[in-house]
Amino acid sequence: MRTMRWLFVLGVAAVAAGCSYSGDADPYRPPASARLDADATGRELYLGDCAWCHGNAGQGTDRGPDLDGPLDGPAYTHFMLSTGRMPIADPAQTTLRRDPVYSDEQIEEIVEFVTSLGGAGPEIPDPHAPAGDLALGTVLYEENCAACHSSTGVGGALTSGRIAPSLDGLSAVQIAEAMLVGPGCLEGTRTCEAGEGAMPVFEFDDHEVDSIVAYVDHLMTSADRRRGGSDLGGLGPVTEGAIAWIVGLGILLLFTRWIGTRVGDE
Ligand code: HEC
Ligand code: HEC
Repeated sequence: MRTMRWLFVLGVAAVAAGCSYSGDADPYRPPASARLDADATGRELYLGDCAWCHGNAGQGTDRGPDLDGPLDGPAYTHFMLSTGRMPIADPAQTTLRRDPVYSDEQIEEIVEFVTSLGGAGPEIPDPHAPAGDLALGTVLYEENCAACHSSTGVGGALTSGRIAPSLDGLSAVQIAEAMLVGPGCLEGTRTCEAGEGAMPVFEFDDHEVDSIVAYVDHLMTSADRRRGGSDLGGLGPVTEGAIAWIVGLGILLLFTRWIGTRVGDE
């Protein structure tokens, strides 16, 4: 009886320990922007927040890719910081769009410093959606983006394991930057080289970029998305078609069961 009681106590203790275990505790690192004063230079912010993963001269470490490669520079750094993807607190953390950690001035400072590390990547683009051609944008988007981001722009899961995010709520500059650098590494490769991104790099001319940006903007704001009843969350024609088939066929099946009589029932 005694041993039974001890076994019970041990069991409860083991379950409690299991419940409270939450993986390795990371030391809390306040962002350098919070530790340094407001006019810290880009170099100070970089050394405080980025260098431990990207190296003090942008040479890269096993925690993060180098920042002096052929695609690195103003556009890539501005994209990563203005979409709040960087900095992350843990190298394994997924890089998702969040509110940016830094002010616009701090982003400008860090971009300038990272650019001085020698990346040969593109400048921050200056797209102008009103100059775009919506019809051209539609064709280019369908051919180049819809496969991953879906034809309604809501995004979707890729076979590579990454998520192609929704294109809602982005600035024209961020959309143009994404096309120039092809952001993100494939699942499991956190230190990928240029051109190995989760999204391809695109080489469109200025008019094509303006047209795609105009079309994405149109997609996200137009009332067309809701034409013809429920938009089912704008999942796209294939999924919506599938739902229509399954629900529609289901109802037909129930109906035939109802009007039909089984042989031998009379
Ligand atoms: C905890 C580690 C870590 C910290 C801190 C960090 N990064 Fe990163 N960074 C990464 C990883 C990992 C990737 C690859 C991301 C992916 O898969 O999308 C990356 C990607 C990038 C890229 C894209 C470059 C490329 O070639 O893929 C830029 C630019 C960048 N980081 C800038 C910064 C800046 C600027 C800071 C500081 C404000 C910062 N990072 C802080 C780990 C880190
Ligand atoms: C092979 C699939 C693929 C294709 C094709 C593709 N993308 Fe992407 N795209 C992605 C992935 C994956 C990400 C997320 C990368 C990350 O989180 O770092 C992304 C991110 C983006 C982002 C950033 C979204 C955000 O939340 O900040 C924009 C903008 C974007 N893509 C636009 C486009 C446009 C425009 C096209 C067509 C010209 C396109 N993409 C084609 C896979 C793709």
